Amino acid sequence: MPLVTSAEMFKKAYDGGYAIGAFNVNNMEIVQGITEACQEEKAPVILQVSKGARAYANHNYLVKLVEAAVICCPDIPIVLHLDHGPDFETCKACIDGGFTSVMIDGSAHSFEENIEVTRKVVEYAHAHGVVVEGELGTLAGIEDEVSHAVGSYTRPEEVEEFVSKTGVDSLAIAIGTSHGAYKFKPEQCTVNENGILVPPPLRFDILKEVSRRLPGFPIVLHGSSSVPQDYVKMVNDNGGKMPNAIGVPEEQLREAAKLSVCKINIDSDLRLAMTGTIRKFFNEHPDKFDPREYLKPARANIKELVRHKLVDVLGCAGKA
Ligand code: G3H
Ligand code: 13P
Ligand code: ZN
Repeated sequence: MPLVTSAEMFKKAYDGGYAIGAFNVNNMEIVQGITEACQEEKAPVILQVSKGARAYANHNYLVKLVEAAVICCPDIPIVLHLDHGPDFETCKACIDGGFTSVMIDGSAHSFEENIEVTRKVVEYAHAHGVVVEGELGTLAGIEDEVSHAVGSYTRPEEVEEFVSKTGVDSLAIAIGTSHGAYKFKPEQCTVNENGILVPPPLRFDILKEVSRRLPGFPIVLHGSSSVPQDYVKMVNDNGGKMPNAIGVPEEQLREAAKLSVCKINIDSDLRLAMTGTIRKFFNEHPDKFDPREYLKPARANIKELVRHKLVDVLGCAGKA
């Protein structure tokens, strides 16, 4: 089937109490690892491209890689989405250039300016059959292109006005997740009986209040990597240095997916799986230099990680 928008996916996910995985793609192996898992698990999927990905890989290469995945995975619906669109021009370039969904991230602007730029993107996108994600509230985090030094939770009292004035199709909110692999400082965490650091819980009270005010409306969570400690260890055991990398507990994401959260963004976990695997490979095979030899296990581990997310966290396996 051709690329689709997320409209029907989100409706089914909302009613079914699960979420769609939105995975960031930057190269062929990442696209393949994600979509092979989705095809095998019969899971709908959102492949998302950031400003940084377009700068790295080139818009046309990424669109063609995703179109190749559509051909290779005929049984699943695939959305091609712009992640954190910084302005109208970038959103327009993606709408004109084959994307079926865009995010306009006006969260760094004032409430009024956010409404203005988001409404402008919605008008253009809807006229071209493309859906739009907006954002209210900011996520703290360390990320190349989307750094917000200090995050602020979404104010539920603003969401109805934002959605009705902009016409967005989904809304990203800030309830305590953040971008990158260092989401929480150890001093913010408690230590459980197994000596594992447990981060502060997500603000489910805010999520529920937003959903009460926007019944049936799809909510998006950014910054939702769980930072698997096996991969952090793999990185650190093989020459890396990632002390105190901590993510969002997967059980909390599963709970959010049962509520109004229909899209869960995951990027850092894929990066960790790829980097850990490649570091280990080189440590074990210092004589090897064929990229296919180290990218193959990296792609395989991305695939297994995505399979785990689909089945155990998002609940969207079998929903294609
Ligand atoms: O939320 C941001 C994504 O992880 C994309 O990151 O800007 O480094 O491509 P990036
Ligand atoms: P992570 O850094 O937690 O993977 O978040 C990715 C994201 O929100 C992409 O928009
Ligand atoms: Zn994000």
